Amino acid sequence: MARPAIVIALPTAERAPVTAELRAAGFEAITIGSPDELDALLTERGDIAVAILDGETDFDTSLEYYGLLHDNGRNIPALMVMSPRALNSLFSPASADEFFSRPYTVDSIRWRVEAMCIRSVTIDDGSGPVIQGGSMEMGDWSRRATVIAIFNPKGGVGKTTIATNLAAALQLHMGQKVLLVDADTVTGHVTTSLGLEQVRTVADSWRDQAEGGDLETLTEITSAHPSGMSVVALTSSPMNTEILEPSRIADAITTSRPAYDFIVVDLHPSYSALNRAIFDKADRILVPVTPDVPALRAAVQLRDVAIELNVQDRLALVINRANSGVSVADMEKTVGMPALALIRSGGLLFVRAANEGRTVIEMYPKERVAEDFDALAERLVRTFATEVAPRRLPVARSGGFRNPFGRTKEAARV
Ligand SMILES: Nc1ncnc2c1ncn2[C@@H]1O[C@H](COP(=O)(O)OP(=O)(O)O)[C@@H](O)[C@H]1O
Ligand SMILES: [Mg+2]
Repeated sequence: MARPAIVIALPTAERAPVTAELRAAGFEAITIGSPDELDALLTERGDIAVAILDGETDFDTSLEYYGLLHDNGRNIPALMVMSPRALNSLFSPASADEFFSRPYTVDSIRWRVEAMCIRSVTIDDGSGPVIQGGSMEMGDWSRRATVIAIFNPKGGVGKTTIATNLAAALQLHMGQKVLLVDADTVTGHVTTSLGLEQVRTVADSWRDQAEGGDLETLTEITSAHPSGMSVVALTSSPMNTEILEPSRIADAITTSRPAYDFIVVDLHPSYSALNRAIFDKADRILVPVTPDVPALRAAVQLRDVAIELNVQDRLALVINRANSGVSVADMEKTVGMPALALIRSGGLLFVRAANEGRTVIEMYPKERVAEDFDALAERLVRTFATEVAPRRLPVARSGGFRNPFGRTKEAARV
């Protein structure tokens, strides 16, 4: 079947490169310059899957486009391209429409279009394939986010670093829609390291609700980071967290799954009831270890606890600061698990990025440590594209897993 048609209504400078990228990916990319043109096109054709609109420079025209896409029983999802500032004030992911922040690479917008197309439902009514916007309701398998928890019972091994940079790599380089949750209620610093100061937390929202306010979903409490990902922290203070009842948090994560492709959860290093409730919802528990005895011992202990909790199949080792000279094979043997990914030392890059409220993925995308995160992100997308949603990512991006440390063995399956 031919790939669906994508409508492009972007400013002149962006129109050509985006059109070229989508055409190279096999889409029929149709540029339009006025609402009349779009109206005529929509009357003529039933196979428009997504329309890419400009969400800021000519907002009034974009609203007209938007109206046409949703008129007369049509429900064609729009991808609104805008600056992070505009995104912050407008972000409301309550429909099949999506937002994309400037500046962007054509590669990343193409991946987002791929994901949106796959989420659409293809209907063949006899007159050829017609594509309609997919619903985002619960039970829609194609909108079920993969939940990745990041945990090691030892502090300082890189959990938060891996959570934030993996989330950014998934969002920016793999076209995934990501929610990053800071579930470290004691030492959590995800929002501050991402420059999101004084943001509303889950504890704030639930306290307001207890005092008569509206019940909000996790999605409604999130803040938009300039990278495009949504971020939410459970609390900004370790005090008075009784309101954060573990099963309620686990349920809130489950309820927000239809709105994202990936939910990455950063955890506090302890076996708290909250962490166990989150393990229970996680598709994968990534276990960062650094090449030192306490971190490795903590991972061995976790493996045993995971057997007791019956989540051992979800564990996957991520070797952090992997270029320190300790043999990866020795570390795998010690922990008793194969490594899913290796992340090299990024020196001070993480500190520099955090000082700007950004991730290394955004600030230093060409550094090799950023490529390590891309490789991990790509591996997760591939695994869950086939495991959870077989049709989700039909197009290969590049050939297999990069092995930056020259190991002869292929890194283990997720
Ligand atoms: N691969 C890495 N290269 C350089 N610094 C790192 C790396 N991983 C973690 N760090 C640094 O180590 C410190 C602890 O990392 P963090 O992610 O906060 O650990 P955790 O969340 O497990 O306590 C931070 O200062 C972080 O910048
Ligand atoms: Mg941490």
